[in-house]
Amino acid sequence: MIRAADLIERKRNGEQLSNDEISELVLGFTRGDVPDYQMAAWCMAVYFKGLTGSETHALTDAMIRSGETLELGKALGRKVVDKHSTGGVGDKTSLAVGPVVAACGVPFGKMSGRGLGHTGGTLDKLESIPGFRVELDIDAFVEQVRTVGLAIVGQTGDLVPADKKLYALRDVTATVDIVPLIASSIMSKKLAAGADAIVLDVKVGDGAFMKTLDDARILAEQMVDLGRREGREVVCVLTDMDQPLGAAVGNALEVREAVDTISAEGPPDLSELVLDASARLLSLSDLGVSLEEGRERAQQAMTDGSARETYERWIRAQGGDPDLDALPRAPFVTEVRAPRAGIVTRVAALPIGIASLELGGGRRQKDDTIDHSVGVVCSAKRGQTVAAGQVLADVHARDEESAARAVDMVAAAYEIGDEAPAPHGILLDVIA
Ligand code: URA
Repeated sequence: MIRAADLIERKRNGEQLSNDEISELVLGFTRGDVPDYQMAAWCMAVYFKGLTGSETHALTDAMIRSGETLELGKALGRKVVDKHSTGGVGDKTSLAVGPVVAACGVPFGKMSGRGLGHTGGTLDKLESIPGFRVELDIDAFVEQVRTVGLAIVGQTGDLVPADKKLYALRDVTATVDIVPLIASSIMSKKLAAGADAIVLDVKVGDGAFMKTLDDARILAEQMVDLGRREGREVVCVLTDMDQPLGAAVGNALEVREAVDTISAEGPPDLSELVLDASARLLSLSDLGVSLEEGRERAQQAMTDGSARETYERWIRAQGGDPDLDALPRAPFVTEVRAPRAGIVTRVAALPIGIASLELGGGRRQKDDTIDHSVGVVCSAKRGQTVAAGQVLADVHARDEESAARAVDMVAAAYEIGDEAPAPHGILLDVIA
């Protein structure tokens, strides 16, 4: 039997722990034998001393073994692909990638989370669709992936209970932003859900967990390494989160934009990311196509209406109304206008995300309820030339007071200058 105090002390002194020691610590914590205060102290020691690749793998493996696992590929008799984003402002990519990939004949079954703070969660966006059910049991989830080709649900069953408990503890002990703990938290859930190949999207910038490309590369490399150690194929794209993705930020607004995007009418940055992620998923799937061919097929599904049809079938299968007119609309829409003519040099993602949160579109505490109709639509993006008085963004609010506060925040998030910012695309790097 391990003594948790010894493991804390040894990690604090920078020693490497054995796989068995890490496994016993994690499983003991999940059972309630290791108390919160010792686990929190261990996480803080990890903050200062780090974990080696093999320690991070042992941690991930123990987290997976803390609960049930799902063999979706075996159940379907197909190679199963999955996608995960570390989260950002306006990131509705999964809502669009799912129907595109499924329309191309590759089953897509995804377990998603809710949003906390300024980043939105896929489940919250889906719940803005009237009638949509995010809770399916495992059998119903597998059956829907088999028959419809697509399901996105909340975490079902007892998958990775260690992460649920550990994440809640990290959240209140200043131990969330520790790369090996983030890597094992994300990858344990992806690996337990049974995908054979995974495309990861690590967001980089002021609206993301990872503020710099260097930090994002370290997280990406650790996640790719964890996947490989478990025998899965993993590709990680690093993408820009210095400005919101697309124009829409806020749940129902983002659903509309995702549907526009799969109908080939989306904003350029989101459309590019959806095409790229879909192409990577198709090239990792059992279709046996190259990245270029995957991209062509994804593009075709977006232009010929098949991705939109798949979207509608999927939403109906989970009880929702796919008609965009059924989505809730906020009663007050207020414009934010350019104070001068020039070029947009910055649309800071973080304050836009916070404006949407304060409008009621996100939650500060886990149990807060959210208003699905509110948010911000940033029609002007970095690099765009604007005239004085031109509309930069629209604030969608439930009342005039919250609209006025959000308008000030959104206006402050925009910077307008005389020189064009250095151009770069949405895709910053790929780690494979
Ligand atoms: N997302 C997760 O699932 N876990 C983390 O630790 C951070 C982000």
